[in-house]
Amino acid sequence: MLFFLDSAKLDEIEYAIKRWKIDGVTTNPRHLANAKMKVEQFIEKIKPLVENTNISVSIEVNPHLNDAESMIEEAQRIASMCENFVIKIPATEAGFEALSVLSKKGVKVNVTLVFNVVQALQAARLGAYYISPFVGWKEERGDYDVDFISNVVRAVKNYGFKSKILIAAVRSARHFTEAALAGADIITASFEVYKRSFENPYSSLGLDIFKDSWDQIQK
Ligand code: E4P
Repeated sequence: MLFFLDSAKLDEIEYAIKRWKIDGVTTNPRHLANAKMKVEQFIEKIKPLVENTNISVSIEVNPHLNDAESMIEEAQRIASMCENFVIKIPATEAGFEALSVLSKKGVKVNVTLVFNVVQALQAARLGAYYISPFVGWKEERGDYDVDFISNVVRAVKNYGFKSKILIAAVRSARHFTEAALAGADIITASFEVYKRSFENPYSSLGLDIFKDSWDQIQK
């Protein structure tokens, strides 16, 4: 399973590439707002970091675009700036229409804001490169569906579609477990979630125990 970082903050991205060897980056308008950057500023900074690497970067079209033609135009413009860019298009009727054109033109599309299996299947049928089911947003609103991740993965894999399932809006290590056991291809999580998950308190406790044991023998 590939690990992507869900962030537009350059310091976090640089750290995660260097220290954690992450495979990709995903952003959305909220992440850009948190990083206090317009999409063009982000593109200018991220491009030199990832070009000539295998690190993919998902960048979302302007969320105010609500017709397929405008999404297609913006997607093509951003995609042409760097081979590593994957364009995020929302799972809406206009988004799906744009996807069917873009995938035929060879633009890599990440269908975002996926909340049910039908949206995932439609994205797969129309040639999505990545499909992003949002796990955390549902849970935060009390809509916890224990089978959501596995249902999306099974439905898409059942028919041999090539789209990769990218589990998004990940909030905890449990989501990693569910995604991995379901056979999801990729997971994207925030800097904080990785930090929390890599640094399990039992590991620190165990290290303290081993330090004590080590010191006893040295006496
Ligand atoms: C990733 O591609 C999504 O945009 C993301 O996981 C949503 O994350 P957020 O809930 O942190 O905005």
